[in-house]
Amino acid sequence: MIQTIKNRTYTETKDNYNHYGEKVIKEGGLYLREWSPNNSKIAAAMRKGFSLKLKDNSTVLYVGCSTGTTLSHIADIATKGDIIANDVSMESMIGLLNLLKIKKNVIPILSDFRILPENKELNKDKFDFVFQDVSQKDQTDVFIELVKKFLNKGGQAAISLKTRSIDSSKSPKQVLVKESEKIRKAGLKILKTIDLEPFEKEHYFLEVSF
Ligand SMILES: C[S@@+](CC[C@H](N)C(=O)[O-])C[C@H]1O[C@@H](n2cnc3c(N)ncnc32)[C@H](O)[C@@H]1O
Repeated sequence: MIQTIKNRTYTETKDNYNHYGEKVIKEGGLYLREWSPNNSKIAAAMRKGFSLKLKDNSTVLYVGCSTGTTLSHIADIATKGDIIANDVSMESMIGLLNLLKIKKNVIPILSDFRILPENKELNKDKFDFVFQDVSQKDQTDVFIELVKKFLNKGGQAAISLKTRSIDSSKSPKQVLVKESEKIRKAGLKILKTIDLEPFEKEHYFLEVSF
């Protein structure tokens, strides 16, 4: 569950842990871990109007999980569904180790995100939430492929676009227009476009359905 207290966002968990130095409050038998928009693009997007539809039994494909800052909050909410956490960096995966000990439903996949659509294990699965946060030129193309292949009917998908990684010769707005067009042409629907300023510069968060 997500809680907002005095304009600060928290995720509730039964686990007494701190993953990256975030503030933790004890309340009754639960712990509330602060989910700051300054540390997480999903938290930033929520602060600017994105509504995350995760339930405790939701399944999640998280692409570009890094050391698990945002992932840890997703794992506080989706406590029962499988959460696939992908990153290409071994260092990031090592940063996940403590979280993996606590959240047994988080399954790491160390690989380039471009080969996920061909992953034999994953090909059995569909997910309720697909999120991608990688700073790569072709991130939109791979996101489209992942959503088409892995998003459950009625599920929620979102991408954080780092415009400078996609094309540094164009303005963030121009990159957004081009990438949005790509998404629409692929048959996906853009439900929300959020400029992540002031939390992240030159980043857009797009909520998409298929
Ligand atoms: C901005 S960070 C993600 C932060 C994370 N989503 C969070 O909020 O805690 C981007 C991540 O994408 C990963 N990445 C970059 N290229 C990738 C690739 N080709 N395949 C998979 N992950 C990649 C990087 O290793 C990095 O950890």
